[in-house]
Amino acid sequence: MRTPIIAGNWKMNKTPAEATEMIQALKPLVKEAKCTVVLCVPALLVHAAKQAARGSKIKIGVQNMHWKESGAYTGELSAAMLKACGVDYAIIGHSERRQYFGETDETVNLRSLAAIRNGITPIICVGERKEQREGGYTNSLMEYQTLTALNGMTADEVKKVVIAYEPVWAIGTGLTATDEQANETIGVIRAAIARKYGKRVADKVRIQYGGSMNPKNATGLMAQPEIDGGLIGGASLKAEDFSKVVNF
Ligand code: 13P
Repeated sequence: MRTPIIAGNWKMNKTPAEATEMIQALKPLVKEAKCTVVLCVPALLVHAAKQAARGSKIKIGVQNMHWKESGAYTGELSAAMLKACGVDYAIIGHSERRQYFGETDETVNLRSLAAIRNGITPIICVGERKEQREGGYTNSLMEYQTLTALNGMTADEVKKVVIAYEPVWAIGTGLTATDEQANETIGVIRAAIARKYGKRVADKVRIQYGGSMNPKNATGLMAQPEIDGGLIGGASLKAEDFSKVVNF
């Protein structure tokens, strides 16, 4: 019913030449993919990535964007600018941005609204820290982060967003949530969307798992009924690894 979506998050990695090389190697490996394939690259690499991805089903995204249309915001990029450069997806509220760059649930909401209104699909990241899971707050926190991010969207807009459930303790650590943990928490997120926007809307929203997802664990995670895809960090940097996740 929902088309799975596998997205790479390259984080702060690669030059334009390295991006071109990786995408050219990836293209033949994902020709038969049955899911949406996205690479979220550093904004500076969008041009090279778009050129290299030509003639394939690989979509290009970025890892952040500002919520204002234009103006005196030194160093920032607007949704309209990114859209004009061919960007189709934007990761919003990644835990690294929350941890190192002062991202809050409120700015995640502003960025998500700006993305949707400019025809960019936001990949909205939510996730609990280790001590929050151990304290038993995961479910209430995921409901709060998710519904705050969606605040002010119409039901039709909510249907278009992608949510990435990324437990912070699983990012870049080699620790993965178990298939059951990921499925259960994603189910909690979907139920919260259903309570506010109705089941028909919640059934459309694609919710990914992220956090040390790789060729070895992708099959098990993707077999879970609530998990509609993955947001892949380290394993998205090499064409062969990423293609194995895409072809889960
Ligand atoms: P890793 O796959 O490297 O754990 O990173 C996950 C992530 O942060 C994707 O956004």
